[in-house]
Amino acid sequence: MSQVSTKRYLSKTAKNIKPSGIRRFFDLANQMEDVISLGVGEPDFVTSWNVCEAAYAAMENGYTAYSANAGLMELREAISGYLTKQFKLRYQPASEIIVTTGASQAIDLAFRALVDPGDEVLIHEPSFVAYAPIVQLAGGIPIPVEASAESAFKLLPQQLEAKITDKTKLVLLCFPNNPTGATLDETELGKIAEVVKKHDLLVLSDEIYAELSYDKAHVSIASIHDMKERTILISGFSKAFAMTGWRLGYLAGPEVFIQAMLKIHQYTMMCAPTIAQHGALEALTNGLEDVTKMVTSYRQRRNFFVKACNQIGLECHKPGGAFYAFPSIHKLGLSSEEFAEELLKEEKVAVVPGSVFGLGGQGHIRCSYAASMDNLQKAIERMDRFLAKRI
Ligand SMILES: Cc1ncc(COP(=O)(O)O)c(C=O)c1O
Repeated sequence: MSQVSTKRYLSKTAKNIKPSGIRRFFDLANQMEDVISLGVGEPDFVTSWNVCEAAYAAMENGYTAYSANAGLMELREAISGYLTKQFKLRYQPASEIIVTTGASQAIDLAFRALVDPGDEVLIHEPSFVAYAPIVQLAGGIPIPVEASAESAFKLLPQQLEAKITDKTKLVLLCFPNNPTGATLDETELGKIAEVVKKHDLLVLSDEIYAELSYDKAHVSIASIHDMKERTILISGFSKAFAMTGWRLGYLAGPEVFIQAMLKIHQYTMMCAPTIAQHGALEALTNGLEDVTKMVTSYRQRRNFFVKACNQIGLECHKPGGAFYAFPSIHKLGLSSEEFAEELLKEEKVAVVPGSVFGLGGQGHIRCSYAASMDNLQKAIERMDRFLAKRI
């Protein structure tokens, strides 16, 4: 039998892309019993029943075929109404919105439509693990902009400006942020917007955690003066509506960019899942009260968890949004990876090493507090025991 030389067949891109650092820890944790996982980036709630029923009804009524490429018109209208009501943004459902297969596909489409080989994309870090690889897949060069713990991981305009070159085309922002929970208020966003306008850049604003803002209402950078025409808004149903498995997100932005993204979407995805779109329509129409209840619960858990981290000696700023705490482990003298691995092995608590999220993440761990209060309490007890042996 002839041997197949896999090396020959795999593309350079596939060979060069690194596996996600988060997966390694999930795989380790999955092999163990009695693990408390603060590792996953998804709600611990199940999707609201009315949303599930809307999907059942879609199936019963035979809505099992493709939808329009850009998504069901009723859903795009609902997204448009929702963005106006919550964030004072106005987008035309027919031309300025595309329903995507999760925010993940929205990010991919945006980069593919806007990035040429050699273009630089500024990404504030620590940030979601997918951004830099997706920029690379599109042929671009991800340029990290480090937001530091001293400013509670808020991105400062001077940090952004320092990284701009004549190759810079796009700025990727994610607030509330994964993994730090950092948020930016209107004034802070205004200063970032000034830099973006001064250098004639576009912004990709991933606002998937917008609803999960605990202290102040979320402000979209697209709502800042003159920014709508240079912002692509990315969002989705995974986090706020507890719908990660439904794979639904969306893009909203100026028609010229959205239509270019739609061309790519037509060839690569055809449309987002139709049954899920019917569920999402129900979520936007009748689901916001449930979001409020979940947000109240996340807020309580954040308050408990962050205070408890500080009490046991893990210094932690208070995150304004998302459902992650990002405490410092500097004083232990261990790397983030060592800390996460030893904590998992000794006390069976799964967290994610901050280093996987890029610059500024080393010396921190990401703990998701989208876990039951019972599990959060147990995790704190176990972490306390772990620290007591080392501090
Ligand atoms: C910042 C951020 N953007 C996008 C996504 C992907 O979301 P989706 O499930 O809608 O693809 C995630 C998931 O963790 C995320 O944290």
